[in-house]
Amino acid sequence: MANVPLVEFNNGRKCPIIGLGTWKSKPGEVAQAVKDAIDCGYRHIDCAHIYGNEKEVGEALTAKFLEGVIKREDIFITSKLWCTFHRPDLVEGALKTTLQNLGLEYLDLYLIHWPQAYQEGGELFPVDAAGKTIPSPVDIQDTWKAMEVLVDQGLVRSIGISNFNKKQVDRIVQAARIKPAVNQIEVHPYLNQHKLIEHCRSLGITITAYSPLGSPDRPWAKPGDPHLLEDPRLKSIADRYSKSVAQVLIRYAIDRGLIVIPKSVTRSRIQQNFNVFDFQLSPEDIQLLASLECNGRLCSMGDVHHPDYPFHDEY
Ligand code: A2P
Repeated sequence: MANVPLVEFNNGRKCPIIGLGTWKSKPGEVAQAVKDAIDCGYRHIDCAHIYGNEKEVGEALTAKFLEGVIKREDIFITSKLWCTFHRPDLVEGALKTTLQNLGLEYLDLYLIHWPQAYQEGGELFPVDAAGKTIPSPVDIQDTWKAMEVLVDQGLVRSIGISNFNKKQVDRIVQAARIKPAVNQIEVHPYLNQHKLIEHCRSLGITITAYSPLGSPDRPWAKPGDPHLLEDPRLKSIADRYSKSVAQVLIRYAIDRGLIVIPKSVTRSRIQQNFNVFDFQLSPEDIQLLASLECNGRLCSMGDVHHPDYPFHDEY
């Protein structure tokens, strides 16, 4: 994984500190984005079954393997178990679907995408007559045990969680034979996640920061919502480094020791977002960025009534 700084997990495995995000990347655009990213030097792609584009990501990976640009061991691939597959007997099948779509024999990292389990067997967002998501009673500790079996089988190298709050992280750690390597959570200056990051760190769990640019293309964005990339306070910091706001936001994660996965389907931005290893934010600027905290969560799923909805707690 040449030329990209690596972060070491609690199991000794290493992951490139920057990866290409693929949430919201349309099937018609994502293959080219993945190819462009690999050509730019990215060696880490963040995927998920629910993104609905793993087949196209897989086509791009296969093309790059065939071209001889990379070998499988040169690239770090993450995917995520969707909420309707938490029941232990469904976990291996869900992973195998993802592996088949991606054209891979193993994943580097497989995450439980959300702590909430949904009714199995049908729609990916099962809803009742009132439009509320239908929970499944599966215990997340049992899902975790099924994730551990995937490591035993050699189908995944590392396992982790995503969108888990402090208590939910603790419940996994209590049950774990294999500790989670990662908790992937939303992190940016409007939601700096200081407490959860420190808590996970104390347990040896690495954080991956998603939506580092504030996900301006999130489907539920409304006119008038705060726009991280256009915040004049960020623009003035970026100007001082002769960098773009996006580069400062990516560096904000890297300088905090977080893995970061900015999404883009635009070649020039994919390149720009990777061009962040020739500068570093000063401790004063990191402080300044931390002062923008405003509990500005952008990604919350909306199933607030679910018993395992993660974001009612302080952190
Ligand atoms: P696009 O994919 O059309 O290039 P996040 O990673 O926080 O989810 O943000 C992704 C969004 O930010 C996408 O809309 C993406 O647009 C946009 N984006 C990615 N990189 C940059 C950049 N360097 N400058 C401006 N916008 C960017």
